[in-house]
Amino acid sequence: MTDHPTTIPEAFLIACRDEEYIGLTYLRRVPGLPHILSQALTGVTRDARGLGVATALKVAGIEWARVQGIAEIRTWNSQHNPRMISINERSGFIREIAVCEFRKDLPE
Ligand SMILES: CC(C)(COP(=O)(O)OP(=O)(O)OC[C@H]1O[C@@H](n2cnc3c(N)ncnc32)[C@H](O)[C@@H]1OP(=O)(O)O)[C@@H](O)C(=O)NCCC(=O)NCCS
Repeated sequence: MTDHPTTIPEAFLIACRDEEYIGLTYLRRVPGLPHILSQALTGVTRDARGLGVATALKVAGIEWARVQGIAEIRTWNSQHNPRMISINERSGFIREIAVCEFRKDLPE
């Protein structure tokens, strides 16, 4: 993953509690759009949730991007994830159009 063209190792942020890894988030490049970053997975271990870890990681990512001169960060959430949607809205992300994902199962 570290040699993938969209990977930015410095923007891979990990939260630690003593020796334990308890959360992560990362920003990656968007091919062809140098002033935009995409924020991918944000995750916090179950016993560390509700303590503001994801919010802190989000803020740290935004600040890192700001210092780099990035103009915009994009991210995507499932509508079934009100917690992450709340964190993103609190962090200043604005809702864009919804994307509907369809699936058709094909019989063997
Ligand atoms: C989503 C996730 C990252 C949140 O991490 P966290 O460290 O617990 O989040 P924080 O403590 O920073 O913020 C929690 C906030 O969510 C909000 N929240 C919690 N439950 C909520 C609900 N049911 N509906 C709406 N908002 C809710 C609250 O605003 C809370 O903020 P508060 O401090 O004002 O109470 C964590 O639950 C997780 O890892 N989930 C599994 C992975 C995942 O779904 N990741 C997101 C997709 S990339």
